[in-house]
Amino acid sequence: LTVAILAGGLTHEREVSLHSGRRLAAVLSEAGMHVKVLDVDANLLQSLKSMQPDVVWPLIHGSTGEDGSLQSLLELVGVPYVGTPPAACRIASDKAVAGAVLSTAGLNVPDSVTIPQKLFREVGVGQVLDLIKARFDFPLVVKPAQGGSALGVTIVASAAGLPRAMVDCFAYDERARVEQYIEGAEVAVSVVQTGSEPRALPPVEIAADGPYDYDARYFAGRAEYFVPARLSEEDTAAVKEAAERAHLVLGLRYLSRTDIILDDAGRAWILDVNVAPGMTETSLFPQAATADALESDTTVDDLYVEILN
Ligand code: DAL
Repeated sequence: LTVAILAGGLTHEREVSLHSGRRLAAVLSEAGMHVKVLDVDANLLQSLKSMQPDVVWPLIHGSTGEDGSLQSLLELVGVPYVGTPPAACRIASDKAVAGAVLSTAGLNVPDSVTIPQKLFREVGVGQVLDLIKARFDFPLVVKPAQGGSALGVTIVASAAGLPRAMVDCFAYDERARVEQYIEGAEVAVSVVQTGSEPRALPPVEIAADGPYDYDARYFAGRAEYFVPARLSEEDTAAVKEAAERAHLVLGLRYLSRTDIILDDAGRAWILDVNVAPGMTETSLFPQAATADALESDTTVDDLYVEILN
């Protein structure tokens, strides 16, 4: 099987994506596939034409990689690819839209408002602060409505920190999502779907010494991971079910990863759903894949072959 991994691109997560691409290429090569990582640029279609891959794995993280743009291009030129189709990508990658869909489906999503930068400028900081203070209790989380790797994300302890957090966030996206902070265990649940039913892999629990920010995610040793997560059977089942349902109701395909906070009452709160989960050494999907292989007495290769077939 010849696989073209599409990585890089011009999103804020370009470096992470290139790293993901290199690592996934090593894993797939190990599994006996012929793999090339293409750093996506203006020559993409030409490169695909000369390479003639059997399948393409879109692995650009963030905006154009996960919002369906890249997938639309692949559909336009008739190249088979792994992953979620464009319309579902558009919905899943927009935290405001995905949150509405998930909550309509009965899943727990933290209360939030999404504020466009234009509105922030027009009505002024004071009015936005009043609106937020009237609706929420601190702490809050301010995050870009699209994008990942915790870029532009701030946990805000009091109203004083809000303006700065929003300005930082607008450097990454023109919409800021202000979300209720939920206390609990941080868990990531990867899902694979090769037939009609999605299957959750063992949950990965994240224990960062401080916020699980960009550095904690990508510098080895800055966060501690527990795989499988230190959860009761019941809580494990609850987070797995939440991730599988999120995958289904958002129309995701092949693979995804849902980031969850499990609160003290055992409720699984969905923070984010990723259509192109990171594949670096410290990323969560590969850790879940390794744990799944151990649990099911298979190999990691088997899982990637299953996804690609
Ligand atoms: N957005 C990064 C790559 C992740 O969620 O893994």
